[in-house]
Amino acid sequence: MTGALVLLLLGTLLAGMLSIVFYTLRTGISPMPTLGKVRRQLLPLLEPELQGTVFELGSGWGTLAFALADRCPRAKVVAFELSPLPFACGWLRQRLAPRPNLELRRQDFFRASFSDAAVVVCYLFPGAMARLAPKLLAELPQGARVLSHTFALRGWQPLRTLVVDDLYRTPIYLYELPPRGR
Ligand SMILES: C[S@@+](CC[C@H](N)C(=O)[O-])C[C@H]1O[C@@H](n2cnc3c(N)ncnc32)[C@H](O)[C@@H]1O
Repeated sequence: MTGALVLLLLGTLLAGMLSIVFYTLRTGISPMPTLGKVRRQLLPLLEPELQGTVFELGSGWGTLAFALADRCPRAKVVAFELSPLPFACGWLRQRLAPRPNLELRRQDFFRASFSDAAVVVCYLFPGAMARLAPKLLAELPQGARVLSHTFALRGWQPLRTLVVDDLYRTPIYLYELPPRGR
């Protein structure tokens, strides 16, 4: 009985690890969380009284999604994640310590509409940023903001850029959607 349980646990662990590898290859990025130093400089760029919808694109284990929900209690944070194991961890955390303004969706954010987003937050990779740029331009309402760290939106002029005092000198970019046609 104990042996069967151990085998089941090991099998589940292995399946979880394989699913991380599979989804890393599929999406192009691992569920690497935003580290504390970056989070501490990124969050104050959003005002605590912010209202509307904040989209987090690729929420991984939920590290940033929960922090965003706490930082902006009047906003609704919608966090998208495809990889099942990190998504399940976020889901479990939401069951154990629910944030009423946080919604975790196991969904490809490229298939979601951004038309009601006030802010889009992301920590992705250059290929995803290049694919995202035309979608953001086409769908975001005017005045919406994009907050990205590590990778920039090429050709977009940030409203603010911060450099975190960490090992990688991580850049944080805050953009505001330019008026249509620009
Ligand atoms: C570097 S992690 C960032 C995790 C989290 N945002 C944070 O900062 O702590 C990027 C995450 O994006 C997810 N991802 C990448 N492309 C995606 C897509 N098209 N739809 C949903 N999730 C995606 C990956 O599975 C990965 O977990």
